[in-house]
Amino acid sequence: MNINGKTAIVTGGASGLGEATAIRFHEAGANVVIADLNEELGTALAQKLGSRARFVKTDVTSEDDVKALCAAAAERFGAVHILANVAGIGTIAKTLGKEGPLSLNAFRKTIEINLIGTFNVLSNVAWMMSKNEPENDERGVIINVASVAGYEGQIGQIAYASSKAGVIGMTITAARDLSSNGIRVCTIVPGTFMTPMVSILPEPALQSLAKQVPFPQRLGDPVEFASLAQHIVENGYLNGECIRIDGAIRMGMR
Ligand SMILES: NC(=O)c1ccc[n+]([C@@H]2O[C@H](COP(=O)([O-])OP(=O)(O)OC[C@H]3O[C@@H](n4cnc5c(N)ncnc54)[C@H](O)[C@@H]3O)[C@@H](O)[C@H]2O)c1
Repeated sequence: MNINGKTAIVTGGASGLGEATAIRFHEAGANVVIADLNEELGTALAQKLGSRARFVKTDVTSEDDVKALCAAAAERFGAVHILANVAGIGTIAKTLGKEGPLSLNAFRKTIEINLIGTFNVLSNVAWMMSKNEPENDERGVIINVASVAGYEGQIGQIAYASSKAGVIGMTITAARDLSSNGIRVCTIVPGTFMTPMVSILPEPALQSLAKQVPFPQRLGDPVEFASLAQHIVENGYLNGECIRIDGAIRMGMR
């Protein structure tokens, strides 16, 4: 799909990987709807990008918010052709803590945002996309975001790894479900990227993370993530695939 002139929704678009993706799609000529809980950062980015960008405060776990997001995007830009489903949270807690098992509420919150939130946006935006006029048989492209933790969760990543494994598992099924609608679905599986979610770690921890990457021995740049997102949109034969972007890292136990 040619990005120029299309409309993209980017959840989590106010920060980190989502922000880089929103900027990249905008540079490639798309209208961009930034959907995020963070009103301050989201509004500032939309203002910086200008008339082809809009911020819509959205909690991806809320059906009402996501339906309102779709309505706002349709009202402002007419249709939505691209979805980057980037919103997510990172959580760290072991299965057993000092006081007992990890609370179900804590486990549920991570699943609610990372997995159910991803499906909530995917299904509602796919419904909108299914009404689009096809271009080269395509009506839409959806990009989800998992994590290498979905394959190799480290100690303390029980909820996070479960949520991201769910997103990985969703990918081929969603691609099959939406094939008759002309909508492609891929998932980006990042290693460790330098975003606000990660940069809060102390310097020695960041250096240790970088050393675990075989080559290049550094954290990923959000621009590299955004460049892959752009490629997925533009390459019409990519579908149903989970693509690692991780400098060949395979996470150890801790
Ligand atoms: N940074 C990494 O190394 C890394 C690695 C693997 C996967 N990921 C995944 O990439 C995605 C983006 O991470 P990031 O590093 O850019 O983090 P980030 O914290 O910089 O950005 C995440 C954004 O999601 C938003 N968000 C959180 N909960 C939300 C909700 N309920 N509704 C709407 N928006 C919500 C936040 O407000 C924030 O703007 C996440 O899904 C994360 O799990 C990141």
